[in-house]
Order: sequence, then C-alpha cells, then structure tokens
Amino acid sequence: MKSKEIRKRFLDFYRKRGHAIIPSSSLLPEKDSTLLFVNSGMFPLVPYLLGEKHPEGKRIANSQKCFRSDDIEDVGNMRHTTFFEMLGNWSLGDYFKEEQLEFVFHFFTKELSIDPKRLYVSVYRGNEEIGIERDKEAVEKWKEIFRNENIEAKDIDFAEEKGMQGGRIFYYPDEENWWSRAGLPKEMPLNEPGGPDSEIFYDLGEELGHHDKEEFKDKVCHINCDCGRFIEIGNSVFMEFIKKESGFEKLPQKNVDFGGGLERITMICQEKTSIFETDLFLPIIKRIERLSGLSYRDKRKSFEVIADHLKAATHIIGDERGIGPSNKEQGYFVRRLIRRAVRHGNILGIDANSWLKDVAKEVVDIYKETYPEIEKNSKRVYNEIEEEEKVFYKTLKKGIKEFKKFRDKSKIDGKTAASLYQTYGFPIELIEELANENGQEVDVEGFFEEMKRHQELSRKLSAGVFKSGLSDGGRETTKLHTATHLLHYALKSVLGDNVYQKGSNITSERLRFDFSYDKKMTKEEIESAERIVNKMIEKDLLIKKEELSLSDAKRSGALHLPEENYPENVLVYSFSDSDGNILSREICSGPHVERTSELGRLVITKEESSAKGVRRIRAILK
Ligand code: SER
Repeated sequence: MKSKEIRKRFLDFYRKRGHAIIPSSSLLPEKDSTLLFVNSGMFPLVPYLLGEKHPEGKRIANSQKCFRSDDIEDVGNMRHTTFFEMLGNWSLGDYFKEEQLEFVFHFFTKELSIDPKRLYVSVYRGNEEIGIERDKEAVEKWKEIFRNENIEAKDIDFAEEKGMQGGRIFYYPDEENWWSRAGLPKEMPLNEPGGPDSEIFYDLGEELGHHDKEEFKDKVCHINCDCGRFIEIGNSVFMEFIKKESGFEKLPQKNVDFGGGLERITMICQEKTSIFETDLFLPIIKRIERLSGLSYRDKRKSFEVIADHLKAATHIIGDERGIGPSNKEQGYFVRRLIRRAVRHGNILGIDANSWLKDVAKEVVDIYKETYPEIEKNSKRVYNEIEEEEKVFYKTLKKGIKEFKKFRDKSKIDGKTAASLYQTYGFPIELIEELANENGQEVDVEGFFEEMKRHQELSRKLSAGVFKSGLSDGGRETTKLHTATHLLHYALKSVLGDNVYQKGSNITSERLRFDFSYDKKMTKEEIESAERIVNKMIEKDLLIKKEELSLSDAKRSGALHLPEENYPENVLVYSFSDSDGNILSREICSGPHVERTSELGRLVITKEESSAKGVRRIRAILK
C-alpha cells in the first residue's frame, strides 16, 4: 500500500465518522510562540483543547507537517527523522477513551490490515504525587478489544524491570505515558493542558532487537526499551487536565489527541525495517545512490542524514511561510541541516557540483500533490539550498583539513572551535559531531566565551548566532555588511522613510537585503540607489563605533529595527564625511570596515519579491 493511500484512508476513515478534515498548518508557528517549529498535530489546536469553539466542529482530523529539531542528532538509526507527517484525529469535548481506542485499533487492523497479534499497548501507571490514578478505563477497553480478536491480553506492571512476562498491556510512568507540549507534569508551566496517553507498538520481531549490543546487553526487553524490536506507531492522548497553582484540575471538556507518524505506519504496511526504504524516501535514497555510486545498505547513516535533512530543509524553505538558511533562530536550523548534508555528501564521496538541489527535486516530487506549496515555492527552495551549499562547500574541505591538525588532542578547545566556525563556517554542532567521531570532546562553553571575546563580532551574539545575518566574520563579508548599511540608507532616500530592514544575509560573495516595500522597484530607482551608495563609498566616509545605552542610542537618532529585541547596551555605528557630517547612524552589532573607500563599487544584481510587502535585493562589490 502506497503512503498516499494510507494518508487517504486515514482521512476517509475519520471523515466517515463525522470528522472535519482540516489542512496542515504551516511548519512555522503563526503567532508568537515559544516553539520555533510546529512539532505535533495538536500544536495548532491548543486553544480548542482548552475550550474555544472550533469553527469546523468537535471532531477534527488531518495530516500535519512536523519538524522536531531535537531529533537532528538521532537521525541515522533507521526510524528517526526531523521532518515527519503526523496523522491526527481530535475529539474536542466529544468522544473519549472507549471510542478512540476502538477507532484506532479498527483503523490499523481493518483498514490497513496490520496483524493484531503484533500489536502491544502501553497505558498510564498513575502518579500519586499529582493525584492522578492509573488508567484502568483504558486497560478495560484494551482487554475487550483484544478479547474480540481472541488474543489474550494480560496487563503487566514494571516491564521495564521484569520484562514482557507474557503481557499485552503495559503500565508505564510519566516519562512514557504522560503527554503535554512541555513534557513531564513537573516541567509543565501553569495553564498548560496535558494528560495520560496510551501508545500502540508494533512488534517487528525478536531478531530485530539488539540485545547483543553493549547498550542493551544487561537490559530486559520490553515494548519501550528501544532495542529495535518494537516501534511506536500511534499515541492517543486523553487530554483532560490542566496545570494550576494548586495542582492538576480537570479541563471543562474531555479531549482526545491522537497522533501517528505516517512514515512509521508506512514502514509497517510496506513490510520494511527502515522508514528510509518506504516510498516516502526511496526516490531520495535512489538519487543519492546514483550521485555517490554507493548503496544505502553500506552507508546507512550518511544516506539517512542527507535524505532526512534535505527533506526537512525543502519543507521549511518551501512552506507557505518558508524561511531560508541564516544565523538566526529557525534559519540557523536550516543552515545546520544543509551544511550537515553537504558534509555527509563529502563522506560518501559525492563529487558533483550543486548536487543538493537534485535531491530536493525528489522531495518536491514526493510531496507536491499533498502539499502544493512545496512545488509553488520550489524555485526558491533550489536557489536557497544551492547558495548555501556553494558557500559551505568552498570551505568544507579546508576546514576538515584544519580539523585534522587537532586529531591528537583529546579536547578541542574553545578558541579552535571558534576559529573553525568563523573561518570555515562549521556550526558548533558539526564541530561536536566531527570530534565525537574521533573520540574527542569539545569545550563548548569555551567556544561561546571565545565568540563573546571577539567584541566587534559578537555584541549581540547568542548561542553562536550572528544577529546581523553574516555567515562569517571574514574580510569580504565585513565589507558587504558595511555596504548593506549604505544600501539601507540609500533605499530610504530613494523610496521613502517607510522602508526598513526586514532581513539580511551576507556571505563573502554577496549581500542579500530584505526590506519593507510593496512595489517592484523601477530601473531608475535601482540605479539611483546604486549611485547613492557608490557616492558614499567615493566620499571615503569614516566609520565610528560607540557603545550606548539603548535609550541613548534611540535618542541619538540611530536607525533601529522595529521588530528587534535589543539588549540594554548596544553598539552604534556612524558613517560621517570629512567635514564630520553624520550621514548614517545605526544600531548594529558589527563588524564593519573603517573607511568606505575599502569597498570598491556596489552593483545591484537582482531585485525581486521576497514575501508579501517585502522586496529583496542582492548585490555584490566589484
Ligand atoms: N500530541 C501527541 C503526540 O505528539 C499525539 O498527537 O504524540
């Protein structure tokens, strides 16, 4: 059964049972959010779980695009991906445990013909501390369901200590069977909803359990032991609690929140042992095999990293609210995904130029019917990926050579890590990965300290992120950064004061500047912006840096971004002519060159739309 058919059957199944099918939300949360990416189907539904009326009713289902950044390092074990699709159904104060467990079992065993004898389930053990009992109701229902299939279903406690004991239904504590967006009950903030859940596992067979490996050698096998034998394919959360000051209270309504990973369900239906062998990945894997001349089975980890990371990057850039690689928040993940894929391509010996976009094309082909935005935005996806690939590819080999010089050290010190980051564009996580492969440690704290010490680079640097959009602190990048300020000033002069910076991304080769403006610029406007910049360059403006409190900086008329959160003290860069007249003044973390005559001449190479009401300029220095 093709994955498309599985997705369709799921939605049809719930439609027939009175559910409204809603579209997938964007991968990038819409409102201010503590989460950078949508990581589960329920995320966009939280207000309705809390009691707000959903316009489509009380029964909802969909297939939701999800991205879990925590899982980046886990990719490579045949069942973890950062991007995945979650098949979900929700009861918003309508049906509860009985119907839900009935539905999901029926769907798996009848619609998808999964053998019920291979299914095992977990339920909540209960927690006295928070006053919530073990989930006897779910146990009774599961017993009835299995009885109807003539399957003995013993309920067993403490399988994590005593093993399977011939059981079918297993009790587990909060760590396994409590679900909230924030994790464990004690980690949840006030007013966060959560509840016990019941998961369904598929038995892939004892031969797939790795109890011979060091990690599992002395451990008993049970459905949650992660040895490879059992795989979780669905989770029904009984969302009926909310955390309050005095403890857990019942929500005004009882909700169900079910989520099942389409990739894993497909793996079972297609009788594979790796999700990368299902039709949701196979064309991508085949493409990497052609590019590398190697076979997936020989080099699983690198294949999986490339396939997963480029799939995720394609979805994030190609989303309706898509974003490209940068050094800021979500963009930093996109950068990490692409750079890690480039590096694993190098491990596979892929020598082709600009090969990443060929892999991205396979991703677009797989998803274009289900998520049409990915095809609509495909040009942007290929461009962004190609650009990032080129930038990183240039320094990757040199960086790895440099890294090898430290092969004999047991620990990579902060200074070395910072220099690998600044000179070769190695994200700190990549440095850690390289080090781990070598049995070395990295002084990550030292790395951040060192980054801070680079004053001109790092006033506003947090978590290794350059806020001004610079890909590194090299000379060419710095020049283009100074040119970006001049361009910002020039655009305001030509197009008016409503123009302000919406984004900036600078590499050693070009600047890319996004600004608020809702029309295409005319040829004349582009030329005059260029002329203004070049005049300022010729005037050899002097660039002065001062540190001011944020309020003083604003009072001094320094340009700042309305959407930015600035720290208490900021750097202000002023550009002044030989008579001391200040032409441009801006809050910025730097770095900049000292005199504009160092820049050469600015050429705008492209002006295009970037998003609604936002234009994008690319320019180079000659
Ligand atoms: N919210 C639950 C999960 O993500 C079920 O959808 O597993």
